[in-house]
Amino acid sequence: MAMNFLLQVGRLSIGVSDRHQMSGANKPLLAVDDISFTIRAGEIVGIVGESGCGKTLTALSIPALLPEGVSRVSGSIVFDGVDLGALSLRELTTRRGKDISMIFQEPMSSLNPLLRVGRQIAESLELHGDTERTYVRQKILDIMRQVELPDPVKIATMYPHQLSGGMRQRVMIALAIVCGPRLLIADEPTTALDVTIQAQILRLLRRINRELGVAILFISHDLALLSHICDRMLVMYAGKIVEEGTASDLFTVPVHEYTQGLIGSIPDRSRKGMALVNIPGKVPSLEELGGIRDGCPFAPRCYSALETCLTHFPKATTLNAQHRVHCVHADRARYG
Ligand SMILES: Nc1ncnc2c1ncn2[C@@H]1O[C@H](COP(=O)(O)OP(=O)(O)OP(=O)(O)O)[C@@H](O)[C@H]1O
Ligand SMILES: [Mg+2]
Repeated sequence: MAMNFLLQVGRLSIGVSDRHQMSGANKPLLAVDDISFTIRAGEIVGIVGESGCGKTLTALSIPALLPEGVSRVSGSIVFDGVDLGALSLRELTTRRGKDISMIFQEPMSSLNPLLRVGRQIAESLELHGDTERTYVRQKILDIMRQVELPDPVKIATMYPHQLSGGMRQRVMIALAIVCGPRLLIADEPTTALDVTIQAQILRLLRRINRELGVAILFISHDLALLSHICDRMLVMYAGKIVEEGTASDLFTVPVHEYTQGLIGSIPDRSRKGMALVNIPGKVPSLEELGGIRDGCPFAPRCYSALETCLTHFPKATTLNAQHRVHCVHADRARYG
């Protein structure tokens, strides 16, 4: 069964070291709290949630790129049957780019401003052992065509700052896929782009997924956007996955009140970081979360919360093969 999955994240928790530890409670602040999910080869899985819910830290933990002061405190990350936590830094570095690669909202964060586009792609290939000059040269042009960059020969000689935002994003995607990864992690890759370019990049990622069979973990605060590209979505709130399912599961039978809130807020999706229009309140800080650590983190904002929700985070209720929810009201779900 294990071989069925490309990625298996099991009971993952990510802690943030508390620099201003006020209370005597020595528990680490948990930014991600006991989440589990899987990705199959070639599948596109989305993570959706408001700002601060732990999407980026979840993504960064997979290739072990968590920032300073943030660490995996428990859980396992198994890629293609191999426990990544058991690998040396050197082995991990080899896997980055080759097996797992990432793209971000801001392409300049992963591009070297001092290197011409073609050279950057060449370095990525060389890093993974491809050094034969004619091969590298051909591969650079092929990959630039694959990400639909016009006039690859010319663009290869340009510097990142000479390109438009959309073209830079294509270069970043080229860098991410040039070594043939099996998992591409895309963290808000289109958020900074205008809608037309956004749609083009989404189409490109979908095409790359189909043609190369690369699985994608696609992170966004935008449920509507995710529903167009993902096979399955994980709804994350304050460090927990509260519901997961296909787009059709979540849109037709949303069970968790947070999922309902995200759906109800769709017309306002462009306002990143703003509160949900139909659910007052906001994502708690990690300090605030500590106070309700064993309960459902959404309980303070939930109209249907019961007493028990403040102290017990419910186990998953399975509604169908894809659709699972952590909510005491799971019996409300009505298919049909
Ligand atoms: N380097 C860090 N040091 C300390 N706390 C951090 C760090 N990075 C993130 N956090 C905290 O961890 C929590 C989750 O952050 P994360 O960046 O994963 O959220 P996100 O869902 O990606 O949000 P956004 O939609 O704004 O990108 C937040 O409370 C955030 O303040
Ligand atoms: Mg983020």
